Amino acid sequence: MFTPDQYELLDFGQGRKLERWGGYLLDRPAPAADAPCGRGEDVWRRADAVFGRQPGREGDWTAGGALPGHWLVRHAGLRLELRPTPLGQVGVFPEQAANWDWIQQQVEQFVAQRAARPELLNLFAYTGASTLAAAVAGASVVHVDAARTAVAWARRNARHSGLDAAPIRWIVEDAVRFVRRELRRGRAYDGVVLDPPSYGHGPQGQAWKLEEQLPSLLEDCGKLVRERAGFLLLTCHTPGYGPRRLGQCLRAAVRDQQGQCEMGELKLATGDGRILTSGSYARWFGRQ
Ligand SMILES: C[S@@+](CC[C@H](N)C(=O)[O-])C[C@H]1O[C@@H](n2cnc3c(N)ncnc32)[C@H](O)[C@@H]1O
Repeated sequence: MFTPDQYELLDFGQGRKLERWGGYLLDRPAPAADAPCGRGEDVWRRADAVFGRQPGREGDWTAGGALPGHWLVRHAGLRLELRPTPLGQVGVFPEQAANWDWIQQQVEQFVAQRAARPELLNLFAYTGASTLAAAVAGASVVHVDAARTAVAWARRNARHSGLDAAPIRWIVEDAVRFVRRELRRGRAYDGVVLDPPSYGHGPQGQAWKLEEQLPSLLEDCGKLVRERAGFLLLTCHTPGYGPRRLGQCLRAAVRDQQGQCEMGELKLATGDGRILTSGSYARWFGRQ
């Protein structure tokens, strides 16, 4: 998890969340925050920037204070670059921090038990926190994302984290197409991590629709880890895909393999213990 000096959820409610990222307070949309706010308006008024969206228009940031174009936060040996983006994102999904820790543990265990470097595939890899968590623990990683800008951002994160010489292949490609190609080449992995959006597109405009394509992509990912009894980590923010459904999708994809599955919610907690659920995860471990 993030230490509170690097990230803190101060409050949420009425469709918004108030977060402190390093030295800056940001107020932005959080559709899952449907309850009333827990704290008073005085706290929210301290925000350095607010992201708002008018119906039918693109959103934008209104900065009250002197918000820099970018800044860094630290997490477990990594340094990640934050930037307020035109979609209201900042380049890091803080609710994923527990999964980065989990990835790091998996890799460390693998290295300790087998004295070898595990090979990981990270799909829809965005700005690379999972990639770097794996690399810092000793994995070699194939990082795949369709957006050149996201891959460039991930490479900057590697540089900020002192990992620019780590064994990472940076690939701008459609996730579905890349996985099919890896299967044709007979490639195998020790782990596959994927965080697919509801909708997306590959660099040549290939449409990604989670609802239609997730089952076959997961099946292909299962084939990539079969030979090595590896693991799969699937996370998702898509409405209707809670832990149970994600677990079912994963188990269906690896139904011909021995293994076990666990699942849960991605969560953020305020200092006074209020929980904002922000997506779901399912993990599957193969067994030989
Ligand atoms: C991190 S994921 C989504 C995170 C979160 N689960 C959500 O729903 O907002 C988004 C990433 O997937 C990438 N992406 C979208 N479509 C893709 C595709 N067809 N192949 C590879 N990457 C894709 C985007 O470029 C982006 O970096």
